[in-house]
Amino acid sequence: MSAQPKDIRVDDRHPDVEDTLETVRRGLGAKIKKLPSRLFYDERGSALFEAICEQPEYYLTRTEIAIMRDHAGDIADVIGPDVRLVEYGSGSGIKTRMLLEHLETPVAYVPVEISRTALMESVAELAMRFPNVPMQPVCADFTQPLRLPVASRSPRRTVIYFPGSTIGNFEAKDAVKILRQMRAEMSDGGGVLIGVDLKKDVAEIEAAYNDEAGITRDFTLNMLVRLNREIGTDFDVDAFRHRARYNVLAGRIETSLVSTKQQVVHVRDEAFSFRADEAMHVEYSCKYSLDDFAQMANKAGLSVAQVWMDEDRRFSVQYLVRSTPVVA
Ligand code: AVI
Repeated sequence: MSAQPKDIRVDDRHPDVEDTLETVRRGLGAKIKKLPSRLFYDERGSALFEAICEQPEYYLTRTEIAIMRDHAGDIADVIGPDVRLVEYGSGSGIKTRMLLEHLETPVAYVPVEISRTALMESVAELAMRFPNVPMQPVCADFTQPLRLPVASRSPRRTVIYFPGSTIGNFEAKDAVKILRQMRAEMSDGGGVLIGVDLKKDVAEIEAAYNDEAGITRDFTLNMLVRLNREIGTDFDVDAFRHRARYNVLAGRIETSLVSTKQQVVHVRDEAFSFRADEAMHVEYSCKYSLDDFAQMANKAGLSVAQVWMDEDRRFSVQYLVRSTPVVA
C-alpha cells in the first residue's frame, strides 16, 4: 500500500502571513523581545537543521541513533504487536526506520507534520521500505488538538513517537501541555516513546549549539531572512549575531539574536528599535536529569516505564505510560 498525495489527511491550521505578522509584532513589541523557534523551519531552515545534525559537536542525533541501533528490538518488545504508531514530526529519519523494522505487525503509521513537502517525502520513502505498513499521514500542527484517522484494523494500542528531544524546545508549562495531549491521544494501555536530552558538562552542551562550521549561526539568522521574504520586515541580517548560552539554573540553552548596533526594524508600518547588544530570544533547548523529566511527565499524568541510554548517559529514549486514570 503506497502513500499517494490523496492519502494525506490535511488538518490545515498552518499559520498564514497574517498570523506570522501578528506573532512578530507581538514578539518585537514585548519588553524582552522574542520570536518563537517554529519560525526557523522554512525550506532552508529545515535543510540547515539537517546539516546541524551532522556536525561533530551536535551529539544529540548520533547518540539517539546509537541508542535506537542498540535497543530498537527491546523497545519494540516493550511496545508490543499490533501498534498504531503516531509520530509527531515527519519521521524522515533513520530512527523511525529502525523502529518500524522491529515492530511486530504494526496496524498503522501516522506521521503528523506541518510541512506537506516533508510529510510527502518521508511517507513516500517509508512506504517503499515498509509496503505492509499502512501509512496514514496527517498534515497538521501537532501542538494543536488533532483529529487522527481511524486505522482499518483495530490496534492493540496507540503509541506516540516523539524523537529528537524536540520536547526540549518547549517551556515547561507547554511541554506538560503537549505531554497531556499525547496522553489523551493514546489509548488505555498506550504509551509515549520520547527522546530526551540529558544534563551534562556545560562546555559539551554549549559546543553543540555553537558549532565551528557556523551552521547553527546560519540556522538562527535564517529566521530573519525568512521574515524579510515572507512578511516584508527589513531586518539587516548582518547587524545581528547568533548567541547560544547554557543557563545552569534553568537547565537550558537559551538562543538569541543579538543586535550588534542601535537600529530600527520595520514590520509593515510599525517601527521597533533595538539597542546595541539587545538580545531577542528565539529558542530554548531544555536539558533534563532523569528525575526532572519524570516529574514533568508526572504533571501530565504520565509515568516513566522504561529508559534506554547511551553508555555516557548523554541522551535518553523513554517510554511513558498513563499513571492516573483519564479524567472525563
Ligand atoms: C529540534 N531541536 C531539538 C533542536 C535542539 O537541539 O534544540 C533544534 C536546534 N536548534 C539549534 N540546534 C538545533
